Amino acid sequence: MTTSFDPDFCRKNFPALEREVDGLPAVYFDGPAGSQVPRSVIDAMGAYLGGCNANHGGHFLTSRESDAMLAEAHRAAADFMGSADADLVAFGANMTTLTFALSRALSKTWKPGDEVIVSRSAHDANFSPWVLAAADAGVTVNYVDIRAEDCTLDLDDLAAKLSSRTRLVAIACASNFSGTIHPVEEIIALAHAAGALVYVDAVHYAPHAPLEVERWGCDFLVCSAYKFFGPHVGLLWGRREWMEELPAYKVRPAENTSPDRWMTGTQNHEGIAGTLAAIDYLADLSRTDGEPADRRAALLRTWELIGEYERLLLRQLLAGLAGVKGLKVWGITDPERERERVPTVSFTIEGYTSAEVDLHLAARGIFAWSGNFYAQPLSEALGLEPDGALRVGLLHYNTSGEVDRLLAALDELVGG
Ligand SMILES: Cc1ncc(COP(=O)(O)O)c(C=O)c1O
Repeated sequence: MTTSFDPDFCRKNFPALEREVDGLPAVYFDGPAGSQVPRSVIDAMGAYLGGCNANHGGHFLTSRESDAMLAEAHRAAADFMGSADADLVAFGANMTTLTFALSRALSKTWKPGDEVIVSRSAHDANFSPWVLAAADAGVTVNYVDIRAEDCTLDLDDLAAKLSSRTRLVAIACASNFSGTIHPVEEIIALAHAAGALVYVDAVHYAPHAPLEVERWGCDFLVCSAYKFFGPHVGLLWGRREWMEELPAYKVRPAENTSPDRWMTGTQNHEGIAGTLAAIDYLADLSRTDGEPADRRAALLRTWELIGEYERLLLRQLLAGLAGVKGLKVWGITDPERERERVPTVSFTIEGYTSAEVDLHLAARGIFAWSGNFYAQPLSEALGLEPDGALRVGLLHYNTSGEVDRLLAALDELVGG
């Protein structure tokens, strides 16, 4: 393989990658359900708890240090999401919890006769909160269809369903089932032309490519640090007018300014310290020693390196899977279209349930997932329920040798 990205160097940062199963190195293809974390993230969380664990807003030393860490984490998160404004990023428990909170606030502005649009390619966390909020507000839900042959969104269907009654379109940057990247900018332009807001789920996309909330013209974007090498923390970015003016559900003594009005209760400070460290880990991957380069610029360079490397692995994986007897990939397989997907590949194998394939791989130290991965709307639309599919998710710490091990294990299963 030729690439300027060095996976061996980067793997040394991840203690979990040293684990073995029955004498063989563990293979982590479970990244879409949660990535491993580098040493710097583990250290940052320990250092926070050991050195300046305190509630925020006090006058004493550790509280002031906590405040400084939180302010830096907001700046890092804004750099990560492509925003110039650190006050527009709220941290929370996870994407699902933030989405339930935001959907409750937003639905207070809806009235009967209004409509919302969700997509059949969604993770249920960007589907059910809107369906439930719509039911509470007496609002109609429309569903954007997918093209089953390649798991892309049917934009003609979206255009047909948009109208002056549409208040919100909920979409994902990328599917956590098929890996399909959806044309977010185009969808936002279509929705805005109809006067609708857009809620973007970037959870699955964030470990693979840059988020660009300002350039894309998002109204809201959510992601989760535990998918991009950090701890279990969710992030919500919103346009200033919505973050300041929507009716947030909050307790009275808490600040009513953004982002505090969205960060209910005492936050997971050690997790936020880890999130800051995860973003810096990514930026540092493309920094040379001592370089004080601006974090956003460094992150953009990192995404180029990671993207190029991940596409090499993806090519190898798809070419290998094409040779496995009875195997069908659900999503884009054409190498010419590799930039329309992230390296998350779900497949089924004739004659085997997904759980059987999963068990076979687990016994060989290969960690993957079977089922619908909460992308229930897509699994239903593809007619794959209740078995779902087997999902292999590649991240920048995976290697060509690991892909070979997977392919050999699949050949062994089907007798190739
Ligand atoms: C695409 C996508 N959206 C949303 C979620 C939910 O994220 P969280 O676990 O942070 O609530 C996930 C989790 O797997 C996901 O993959």
